[in-house]
Amino acid sequence: MSGGVLVIIPTYNESESLPGVIERLRRAVPDADVLIADDNSPDGTGLLADELAAHDSHIHVLHRAGKEGLGKAYLAGFAWGLERDYEVLVEMDADGSHRPEELPRLLAQMPHADVVLGSRWVPGGAVVNWPASRRLLSQGGSLYTRMALGIPTRDATGGYRAYRASALASLDLATVESNGYCFQIDLLWRALQRGLVVREVPITFGEREAGTSKMSNRIVREALLNVTRWGASHRWAQVSRRS
Ligand code: GDD
Ligand code: MN
Repeated sequence: MSGGVLVIIPTYNESESLPGVIERLRRAVPDADVLIADDNSPDGTGLLADELAAHDSHIHVLHRAGKEGLGKAYLAGFAWGLERDYEVLVEMDADGSHRPEELPRLLAQMPHADVVLGSRWVPGGAVVNWPASRRLLSQGGSLYTRMALGIPTRDATGGYRAYRASALASLDLATVESNGYCFQIDLLWRALQRGLVVREVPITFGEREAGTSKMSNRIVREALLNVTRWGASHRWAQVSRRS
């Protein structure tokens, strides 16, 4: 269906979590289409996705050759959705951390924004079942990002988002190279630099109940390095304009 909402769900070994999330999503936002972007998961998530799609015309599957990271899977999903003229493209994790029941609240802000961020770190937002270390990393990462880039966003790394398709198409996606958390910061930074309207909506993020996180130290380092680099080059541009 064109003109509507497409929810893109990247998956890598999410066979335990995916069916429940899809069922909840289809119930919470029945009009939305779903695109599962699977990186040839060894646990058979791709086959499972095909089975779900066979029984429901709202569900689509994008099979990718192998594990290339969250960012690449989203870029492929965005391209798929933009080609098909959806009006709004949504990012959502497959592990149940992003509650499908909260999606209507994100979508309700779309008339007033180009990008709506599900945010853990605004009043009303929350994280449940996260170890203190992960909480510190996420809050610290967002604080560092705010300071380095000079942006007001409280939750810069969150992966529960809605983009107006036209706004997304203006972000020069072909040049996005970052993956992991950094992918989320990268897109936010591009949106803010282009003057797009970004709104944060409180969400409750729950730690996954099954399967394992794919985030690693390497992904954290990538984010830290890139944010520092982007911040420095932005400040440098400001300084050289003034002198
Ligand atoms: N296709 C594909 N390929 N999907 C992937 C890959 C990959 O290489 N790596 C991860 N995913 C999928 C997972 O299957 C899951 O659906 C989603 O991406 C998030 O992966 P997790 O491993 O559960 O990430 P997390 O919980 O540590 O991180 C979440 O929180 C971060 C901080 O807010 C995500 O929402 C991140 O986007 C977010 O930056
Ligand atoms: Mn997760």
